[in-house]
Amino acid sequence: MKFHIETWGCQMNDHDGEKLSGLLLAEGFEAVDSSAEADLVLLNTCSIREKAVHKVYSELGRLRQEKLQRPLLVGVTGCLAQQEQVALFKRAPHIDFVLGTMALKQLPRLVAEAQAGKARVMDTGEYPDNHLFPPEVTRRQDTAKALVTITEGCNHACTYCIVPTTRGPERHRPFQDVLAEVRSLVDRGYREVELLGQNVNSYAGGCTFADLLNRVSEVDGLEWIRFTTSHPMNFTRDLAQVLVENPKVAPFLHLPLQSGSDRVLKRMLREYTVGEYLERLGYLGEARARIALSTDFIVGFPGETDEDFEDTLQVLEQVAFDGSFSFVYSPRPGTPSLRLRDDLPMTVKAERLGLLQTRQLALTKAANQRFVGREIPVRVEAHGPNESGWWLAHSGEWKTIHLTVGPGRSLPFGELVQARITLASPHFLGAELV
Ligand code: SAH
Ligand code: SF4
Ligand code: F3S
Repeated sequence: MKFHIETWGCQMNDHDGEKLSGLLLAEGFEAVDSSAEADLVLLNTCSIREKAVHKVYSELGRLRQEKLQRPLLVGVTGCLAQQEQVALFKRAPHIDFVLGTMALKQLPRLVAEAQAGKARVMDTGEYPDNHLFPPEVTRRQDTAKALVTITEGCNHACTYCIVPTTRGPERHRPFQDVLAEVRSLVDRGYREVELLGQNVNSYAGGCTFADLLNRVSEVDGLEWIRFTTSHPMNFTRDLAQVLVENPKVAPFLHLPLQSGSDRVLKRMLREYTVGEYLERLGYLGEARARIALSTDFIVGFPGETDEDFEDTLQVLEQVAFDGSFSFVYSPRPGTPSLRLRDDLPMTVKAERLGLLQTRQLALTKAANQRFVGREIPVRVEAHGPNESGWWLAHSGEWKTIHLTVGPGRSLPFGELVQARITLASPHFLGAELV
């Protein structure tokens, strides 16, 4: 049996894909690179915005045609599976099974039942031990940085967000368990980990998130720790201190702001004002200048006025984020924001998004410019595309580095090397090996 997994969405979903892949390999299945070669295709889905869902349905449509030509099992996992559950079979009757986000370990059973000819197999139950996944089973894709789940679910209730529905309430992995996994990763050669959760900084697996970072940093041989993603209200002084003082915690912080207008933040139920957000950034003190900051914005939230949007642009300039991810508000089924009047034309929303992204590009370029001439450590990940002559790497600040080395030279994957930054664009830093 050959399988292929198509994953959309965030790092958490990528990592779930690595777990699902490991479960199938443990059953003796073989991984292949495309659905065309596979007997089993898993669509590991995202439903954060409507567009993400469209992509899934369009792929399901394509697989329906393939299923007419040859025997093929199709399973749907991930957030859309958890959200739609049995309704997925109505919309796409050729789906063989549906597996929810809190039942990953049930995959082999579901596949076996589907193979035995059972129709519409489904498990979208909430298994409270889902986050206690056997680390040795996981089949990691990335050889430079290992993803490690520390918490699943979200206890916030942002009015636009589907995640509390698709991922359930918070469940925390005991810190001893996290440490054991990180140690085993280092034994296998990893030097960098990224701790994952819908909301990592509300971590409560026997210690605080700040403590967890310190404990993980004590693992011998580990060089960098990253984490994603954080809620501003759970960003404490202790956490800021660890980020500033612990050299193993990479100098990068993703702290989603969503809007620069208090009025909009309130309607989003984000639980903070712009002032409180800025105050928390202030916890970083002078180190703020060397820690790369990124954020998320939603534009065109129901009721967002020109002034609200101006406020967002103003905060964008004031903070001068290194980068931001921005999206037009997308109404999600069952979320409270559906009840808010949303009469802003799409053209206006799209225009706002364009303005924000143009400004961000300029800010990113300026932020990157400051690296030119500096020598910094970067981790080597891959060759650039064919014959390009450069290697792909990332800095501690999570800047994409295009590293030029002399002809015929080879670099060690996964290792840190010293690079001199020679060129800055909004999308990457050009560098030479020192
Ligand atoms: N847990 C994370 C968010 C995960 S979703 C946090 O709270 O920061 C990633 C981003 O998608 C969010 O930060 C938000 O900017 C965006 N997003 C979430 N729901 C959305 C929606 N309904 N429409 C548009 N963007 C949305
Ligand atoms: Fe969604 Fe808000 Fe939870 Fe983030 S904190 S996952 S935006 S509900
Ligand atoms: Fe998408 Fe689910 Fe992640 S909705 S962004 S895959 S938590």
